[in-house]
Amino acid sequence: MSAPGPRTTTPFGHLLAFRSDPLGFLTRVAEVHGDVAALRLGPYRVWQLTHPDLVREVLVTHAGRFRKSPVLQRARMVLGDGLLTAEGDHHRRHRRLLQHAFHPQRVDGYADAMVHRAATTAERWTSGTEVDVHAAAVRMTLETAGTTLLGTEVTDDVDLVEEAIEDLLSAYRLAFVPLGWRLRNLPVGPPRRLRRGRQALHDLIERMIHERRTSGGDAGDLLSNLVLADPQDRLTDEEIRDEALTLLLAGHETTANALAFSLWLIAEDERLQDRVHEEVDAVLGGRAATGDDRARLPTCRGVVAEALRLYPPSWAIARQAVEDHPVDGHLVPSGDLVIVPPWVVHRDPRWWPAPRVCDPDRWAADATTDRPRSAFFPFGGGARRCIGEGFAWTEGVLALATIASRWRLQRVPERPPVLDPVITLRPRDGVWLRPEARGRPSPHRS
Ligand code: HEM
Repeated sequence: MSAPGPRTTTPFGHLLAFRSDPLGFLTRVAEVHGDVAALRLGPYRVWQLTHPDLVREVLVTHAGRFRKSPVLQRARMVLGDGLLTAEGDHHRRHRRLLQHAFHPQRVDGYADAMVHRAATTAERWTSGTEVDVHAAAVRMTLETAGTTLLGTEVTDDVDLVEEAIEDLLSAYRLAFVPLGWRLRNLPVGPPRRLRRGRQALHDLIERMIHERRTSGGDAGDLLSNLVLADPQDRLTDEEIRDEALTLLLAGHETTANALAFSLWLIAEDERLQDRVHEEVDAVLGGRAATGDDRARLPTCRGVVAEALRLYPPSWAIARQAVEDHPVDGHLVPSGDLVIVPPWVVHRDPRWWPAPRVCDPDRWAADATTDRPRSAFFPFGGGARRCIGEGFAWTEGVLALATIASRWRLQRVPERPPVLDPVITLRPRDGVWLRPEARGRPSPHRS
């Protein structure tokens, strides 16, 4: 059977259509060609699979037939051999060593730091003055990742890290351009920015490792664990640096995007925002949130889930087949790429009635649904599932509650967010909202 999908006769195939509007293009392909469609993106044949069962086969059941995509393999230029890009035994060993820092009890221990950062962020806002909540969230999540995982105040270094990330992102766009990647060693332009950004981040993290080694003390954070591990579990400084850099980069912008879109969703819907306020007032009554409150804030959690569904930070998860993979009467041959796009699956009306509506009640504990499990996979799945999932939920829900307990957020109609799907699905020019101070509920008496 010939591969289904749109035809093309141009040398780069569908690359231009994809690059000019990736989200719209992938959605149209699924609408017109169904759950299995083959595309040509530059040198690669790429299969888009959009049925949750097919997603599950790629990420979980037959994950061994795939490795990370060439675009992510190129991310090694930036991330080195960290968890996100590593494969095989190296990945298994490192995942085991890092897992400890993401144990639910450890993540609970980070909750106070997360709430403190969210409160400090919200304190900086002024009633009636427009604020880019995305930029604020990026700074906040970066600082939280710094303190909880690396045990270091990165507050003074935030500008440096943000600038370095901008450098890296501008160069990373090369990874999507045919032949562009071959230019990466040029001494000018984006390749130069790539090297400059990477060097700045390496210097920062190497300094942190050095500080931890010389102090010898266990600060209880991930970096201490890695630096002070038993000899059989000890990683080299370079390996630790790559892991720390990966966590800092993989962990902060994704969570910031989820939080910024959560705030946008409640600003768009007055009644939903009222519900969130009622919930945070009833649960927190003016006190600071704690890790235990997470389970008592189902509406906040439902809003974050809807933000992850409607604006999945990882909007398309890609793999390269290393073995032939049969799919619905077709064969994905070894070497072809596969994309499973949360952006498309999360908005599919077969699994999500009124898909564009933000409805936190979809996630209520008593909601019944026969939706397939993999219809929602913002954190991927299987052995490569996001290690920071619990961390992200905790930070997203508690930060939303902390901000909502203090502010009512109004839309700024002339500045709607514009989506920019690069590595993560980020808002191109920020998410601008106008906070209005709320009266403070008095703390509960116990
Ligand atoms: C809302 C926030 C987040 C989203 C949507 C997200 C999404 C994802 C996804 C989809 C993957 C799998 C990628 C693939 O299979 O190719 C992944 C992997 C990963 N994420 Fe996250 N992530 C988030 C937050 C975090 C946080 C907070 C951290 C760490 C502090 C983190 C660290 C990682 C790492 C290290 C991996 C690689 C795991 C492995 O391959 O073993 N992420 N993430």
